[in-house]
Order: sequence, then structure tokens, then C-alpha cells
Amino acid sequence: MSDKSTGIEHGLTNYGDRDFSLYLRRSFARSMGYSNAMLKKPVVGIAYTPSGFNNCHRHFPELLDAVKRGVLAAGALPMEFPTISLGEVFLNPTSLKFRNLMSMDTEEMIRAQPMDAVVLMGGCDKTVPAQIMGAVSAGRPAVMLVGGPMMTGRHRGERLGACTDCRRFWAQYRAGKIDDKEINEIEGKLATTAGTCAVMGTASTMACLVEALGMILPGTAAIPAVHADRLRAAEATGALAVKLIGSKLTPDVIINRKSIENAFRVLLAIGGSTNAVIHLAAIAGRAGVPVSLARLNELSDSTPVLVNLKPVGNGYMEDLFAAGGMGALMREIKDLLHLDAMTVTGETLGERLAADAGGFVDRSIIAERKSPLEPQGGLVALFGNLAPQGAILKRSAADAKLFEFEGKAVVFTSLEDLAARIDDPNLDVTANDFLVLQNAGPHSASAMPEAGYLPIPKKLASKGVKDMVRVSDARMSGTAFGTVVLHVTPDSASGGPLGLVRNGDRIKLSVRERRIDLMVDEAELKRRADTVKPAAATPSRGYARLYAQEILGADQGCDFAFLKPR
Ligand code: FES
Repeated sequence: MSDKSTGIEHGLTNYGDRDFSLYLRRSFARSMGYSNAMLKKPVVGIAYTPSGFNNCHRHFPELLDAVKRGVLAAGALPMEFPTISLGEVFLNPTSLKFRNLMSMDTEEMIRAQPMDAVVLMGGCDKTVPAQIMGAVSAGRPAVMLVGGPMMTGRHRGERLGACTDCRRFWAQYRAGKIDDKEINEIEGKLATTAGTCAVMGTASTMACLVEALGMILPGTAAIPAVHADRLRAAEATGALAVKLIGSKLTPDVIINRKSIENAFRVLLAIGGSTNAVIHLAAIAGRAGVPVSLARLNELSDSTPVLVNLKPVGNGYMEDLFAAGGMGALMREIKDLLHLDAMTVTGETLGERLAADAGGFVDRSIIAERKSPLEPQGGLVALFGNLAPQGAILKRSAADAKLFEFEGKAVVFTSLEDLAARIDDPNLDVTANDFLVLQNAGPHSASAMPEAGYLPIPKKLASKGVKDMVRVSDARMSGTAFGTVVLHVTPDSASGGPLGLVRNGDRIKLSVRERRIDLMVDEAELKRRADTVKPAAATPSRGYARLYAQEILGADQGCDFAFLKPR
């Protein structure tokens, strides 16, 4: 019984007598009906995240059976363990606030419990980055299994899926083009199967990125949740976890500068979610890899958008799977990738891509390099006096007519202020104004919700206005679209210049110059800064207090300072 013990002998509970500890553990394990032979096997832990509050994971019991089958057939003992789960639409104020809590839960339970390798089962938006962050910090052999996307549904002959269509129909309802009866009918058709949102939203983006990072089996990111291939992927993932036992290929080794850069390339080529910039920065940060938004711009300028999925294109995730999946996409940009990056299978990314070459590719979904959807990447980082440490714009989902634009600020000082006034018929606003939302960043009490997609004021929406420049320190759902400047850093609540914008100020956006500037002179900004009221008091207890004390800015992935490697 040394620290090199494996299986359930690993990491004994400390009673001051190691033999007693093992005797007691075996006795209690036997109470679960395991034979002695099973208890002598190495153990694969399975971080298991179903929840009554997570519709996206409702098929996890069936997937768990398949993972266990794979583990058992490969000769190890599978043991699932629960961690918290984050169902995107069931958390207040926003799921991002709890991503770090889930990563801590995952890290500590991997480390504290006797397992030789671990399968991470995640899917809904924040669960995948949380589990990867935790696994990188835990440093034990790990492989991820993502839950897979939902299938699409139909409404009056039209194909639809969560959640770009959720927003499209809601905008039509707000503009008076759809009545109460029809929006109620649509509500029942947007999300009809298990799995994650059906478009290239944050969950799908993160699934694609973990394949680019080399943390899941090749070809498994886009398999629909309810497809039999998803179960086969689960079984194979269980078997791979057994192969990983004793391996030095741990997540903190797989996640490195090269694999992170590969993930950014893929993020740009798929026109993926802005949220992924935050999650990749956090994952990279756990591995000690710095992420620079200036470098993101360099990558963006040389990476074409090739994947034709909503919200930037037309298709859904099930189409990406049928079109050839991530392998086909990565082969198309392989000259831009670090092909020597190692993956969880023990092969390099280049070897993996070569092994599956030559299959069918649907070019209506995965464009050829010579005819991209966009010649440059979907995301761009902006700097300037309004965002000294950066902001993000998803240019592939924005209106290019607004890229070089100057307008008057219409300021909302909080989410409550926004909700109270955005549809006020007397709001002084035109389509040429900039809607500005303050105090919705990571340091605010609202903890950076996906509120950056400010609604078009009803009085303008009803006249047919579909897009305006919107600026905030909040995030935006990966399923949303529009000329929306997000993640302005530093945020208002930590004293950033966004908090100094006042109604009527002029703001200038230049995507060409990668800038967003407040056209107010320095002296006036200093005068305003001197009159800013101190931020709200730190919460007195619990996780809210820890969050307030430790949260870092969007440029550092909104991780907690004390979770970064020392
Ligand atoms: Fe879970 Fe969209 S709500 S992925």
C-alpha cells in the first residue's frame, strides 16, 4: 500500500492506520455487491452530470451504461460519481457564475476519490469547460465524452432548433409579426430531443473545441445526442479511459500552447461562440498558457469561416455530423494547425486526421478552402479607450454596414434599468445610436450574464429595425447574432471606462482598425471617474463572497485567481 496503489486502494481515507483504512474501504465497497475480483481491478471514475435541472443531459443514464460497458469490457471497474451540473437556462443569475464551482467540484472529486483515470461526461454550455478546467488542474488521465446536440424539429413546414430560432421567432413576436398563439406553439417545438442546442452555440462550439484540443475521441463532437453512434462513442470512450491508466498523457500535458492555438483556429473556422474565447482563456490559464487577444486577431485574419451552421449560416449540428464532422473541417485547415499536438488517443492530431481522410464531405455545410463562407475568422478583438484590455465582436454574425460607424450612446446602467426602459415609447433612441449596457460584467452582481444581445427597442423593431450596435461588458449566447460588442474589459464594476459612458456621448466603432473609442476627452473622463460611487459591498458569506473576491476579468477567462497554477 503505497501512493502508487491503484484501484480502490489508491488515496486512502486517513484514519492513522493504513491497513485499517483499506479494510474498511473494501468492506464498504463490498456492501455495494462487488466481488473481490472486481475490487482488485483498476478503477475508471466517471464524472456524471445528469440533473433534473439540465434538459440537455437527460439521456445521460443511457450514455453512462455504454461508458461502463466499455470500461468493463476493457478490464477495469467503472464507478460513476456525481458533480454539480449546470443547466444553462435554469441558473440564476447566470450559469457562468457557477462554472468555476463546477470545475472545483470536478477537480477535487477526481483527486480525492480512488480512480486511475476518469471519463468526463458533459454537454450543456458551461459543463464542458468546467470539467476540462478541473481535469487539467487535477492532472489525472482523463478523456471527455460530450452529450451531443439535439435534433431539429418542424414548425408549419419550417425546420427549427434551439436556439437561434428561439431568438428569431421571439424578435418576430416583439415586432408584432407573430401572435401569442403561434409563439406558444413554437415554444413547444424548439427543443424536442435530449442533447445540447442544435446550432453552433456555445455547447456545440465547446464540443468542437475539445475535439480540436484532442480531449475526446476523433469524430465524436457532432454526433447527435440520440444517435446510436453516440452510444458507440460512449462505449469506446470507456475503453479508451482504461488504456489511459498509468499514462503520462494527462490533460495538463495535452492542453498546451499548440493545442490551444489549434482550438482558436477551429473556433474561428466554425464561426463559433464568443463565449468560447472566455472558456479557452480559462482552460489555457489552468495549463499556464497565456492567451492574447492580439494573437486572436492574427489568427482571425488568416483563418476562413468554413462551416455553414446557424447562427452565422443555415445548417444545424446534425448536418455537420452528416457532412463529415470535425475531421473534415480540420483537414480543410490542416496547414493552419499544429499537427504535432498530442491527443488523448496517443496519436498526434496529424495522425488522427490522416487516419480518417478520404470520406464523404458535404460541401454545402463544410466549405472548401478555396470557397469559404468568409475569408476571415468569425471573431475579432477590439481595443481602444473604451476597452483597454479588449472586447469581442462576432463579425460573422454582425451587419457589416455597421462596422465603420459612429453614433450617440443610449446608456442603461444595469440590467434592471434595461428591462425597465428598453421598450419605453418615450425612450430617446434611433437606429443610428449605440445601445450601451453597464454593470453586467464579471465583477458585477449579475456575474456577466448573456445579456449583451440587447433587444432592439420595440418602437424601432416594429418599424423593421433588425440590428444596431450594442456595447456591453456582458456576454452573448452563442446562438445569437447582431452587431454586438461584448466582454468590454475592464468591466464597469471594476472601474473600467465603460462605466463612464453617459447618454449622448459619441462612440466610434472601427472593425477595420480593431478599435472602439469613447469620443470624450481625458479630463472629462477623469472628472466622471472621481464621482463614481464605490462598488456594492462584497457579499458577506458563501460562494458569492468567494466569487466576488477571486473573479478575474474576461481577458483571463473569468477564472478565480487562486485556481491558476502558481
Ligand atoms: Fe444546454 Fe443550450 S441549454 S446547450
